[in-house]
Amino acid sequence: MEITLTGITTTGAPHLGNYVGAILPAIEASRRQDVQSFYFLADYHALVKCQDPALVHRSRLEVAATWLALGLEVDNVIFYAQTDIPEILELTWILTCVTAKGLMNRAHAYKAAVAENLADPDKDPDKAVTMGLFSYPILMAADILMFKASKVPVGKDQTQHLEMARDIAARFNYLYGEHFVLPEAVVDEKASVLVGLDGRKMSKSYGNTIPLFEPEKALRKLIMRIKTNSLPPEAPKDPDTCTLFQIYQAFATADESAAIRQRYAQGIGWGEMKQVLFEYLNARLTEPRQRYQELLEKPDHIEQILKHGAARAREYSVPFLHQLRRAVGIRPLGG
Ligand code: TRP
Repeated sequence: MEITLTGITTTGAPHLGNYVGAILPAIEASRRQDVQSFYFLADYHALVKCQDPALVHRSRLEVAATWLALGLEVDNVIFYAQTDIPEILELTWILTCVTAKGLMNRAHAYKAAVAENLADPDKDPDKAVTMGLFSYPILMAADILMFKASKVPVGKDQTQHLEMARDIAARFNYLYGEHFVLPEAVVDEKASVLVGLDGRKMSKSYGNTIPLFEPEKALRKLIMRIKTNSLPPEAPKDPDTCTLFQIYQAFATADESAAIRQRYAQGIGWGEMKQVLFEYLNARLTEPRQRYQELLEKPDHIEQILKHGAARAREYSVPFLHQLRRAVGIRPLGG
C-alpha cells in the first residue's frame, strides 16, 4: 500500500492559510482507504525555531486539537508526536553519519541565516546558527525514511528538504544495501496561494495571518482590517486582485464563488463584502471552533490519542531500526 507522511511543525496556532493549504487536503486524504497516512507533530523541529517552553507546550496542544477538531480520522491514519518515537532520533544520528556536510551547507534556511549575518561585516557568519538549524534536514529525512513514505505532501518551501532526504537515503542504500524507499514531494499548487491581511502570502513570518479558531468577534475585526483598494461602493470590481475574494474562493464551492464574482461586477461595496466573507467563514468555523475549545479542555484525552498513534507508529519503527542497526554493524557481540 502507498505510504504518505507529513509533519506539522508545532509553532503557534494554525491559521487560515495552513487550513486551506495543508490541513484540509490532509484530512480529506485521511479518509482514503487505499493509502496508509502518517501525520505527526514535528515537535523536535519546533525546538529549532522556538526556545520558549511554554509556547512549545501550548503549540503541541493547539495543533493536535486543531486537527482533531477538524475531523481527522484517527482510526484510519497514524497520528502521533515525533517526540514519542525515540527511534527517529536514533535514525537521525545514523543518517547524520552518512550525510555530507557540503549537502547541508546548501540548505536554503541555513544559507539565508548566513547571508543575513554576512550583510553586517562585524557579525560572525554563523551567528545564532544552531546545529539544530544546520541539521534540520537530517531530522526531517529520518521522519520520512523511518516509515518508508513514498509520497510526502508539503509546501513548496520544503521541496529542497525532500531532495536532501532522497540524497541521504540513496547514500545509505549505496553503503549498506537497499533499506530505504526514496520519497517524493507532493506539492499542491493551490496550497501556497492564500493571501493574508495585507495582500501578501498569508504567513506567520509576515504577521498577516487570520488564526483559524479566532473567536467570532476577533475574526470579524481581522476581516474588517483586510486591505482593499479605494473604489467606491457602486463601482464594478475585480475579484481576481482582491484579497477578500481570494479568501472566500478558497473556502467556497465553485457555484458560490461564481455568484460572488457577479456581485463584484455589479459593484459590491467593500463593507458589504467583508460582512459576506465574515459570515461565510464564521458559519464554516463555528462548529469546529466549538469542538476545538472543548478539546483544549481535555489535554489528557488528546495525549491518549497521540500515545495510541505512537504505539502504532512504533510497530514500524522499532523493528526497522533494529534492522538498520544490524545493517551498519551494531548487533550483539556474539551474533
Ligand atoms: N519541515 C516541515 C515544515 O516546516 C515540517 C516537517 C518536519 C515535515 N518533518 C517532516 C514535513 C517530514 C514532511 C515530512 O513544514
